[in-house]
Amino acid sequence: MRTMTTGCRAFITAAAAGVLLAFAGSGSANAQGTPIGGTPGGAAIQNPVPPTEASVAAGHGIYLAMCAACHGEKADGHGRAVGDYGKRPANLTLPNYRYGTADGDVFDVIQNGVEPSLAMPAWGDAVGETDIWHLVNYLRSVRKDE
Ligand code: HEC
Repeated sequence: MRTMTTGCRAFITAAAAGVLLAFAGSGSANAQGTPIGGTPGGAAIQNPVPPTEASVAAGHGIYLAMCAACHGEKADGHGRAVGDYGKRPANLTLPNYRYGTADGDVFDVIQNGVEPSLAMPAWGDAVGETDIWHLVNYLRSVRKDE
């Protein structure tokens, strides 16, 4: 009974967050983990690294070393590690990302992972901020247009 009540409350919270999202058009904080649609304020964060060819190439190198095992060499989500984790790695060539497509949102997801499961791990300790922006610029280059 207790579990059911908690479950219901979680559902109502999620539904309320969905309504907020629909109205605000941007992410809203909740206790369920990384907000779908983006972190509050994520879209306002400016990417300090221009998406030059050199930056995209640097991002590609880091991507192949640290991300391709799960997300696939073509970033389409078909990495070898698919199935080893509770969730399927995202297809990063899609025009819109589940957890926000703005540069600041993608930066946040890479730096802090996708909570609460962290099936998408946090890279903030292993990858410096400038390198994360290179990754953001690389992902922009592989994303299909809307
Ligand atoms: C251990 C496997 C794994 C590795 C390594 C990994 N990811 Fe992920 N990633 C995931 C999973 C699983 C998800 C989906 C998480 C979810 O939906 O909860 C994800 C989601 C994402 C998302 C969000 C996509 C969306 O639709 O919002 C981005 C961006 C991302 N990863 C980028 C990266 C980058 C860049 C790297 C390398 C630094 C990386 N990932 C390394 C497993 C991984």
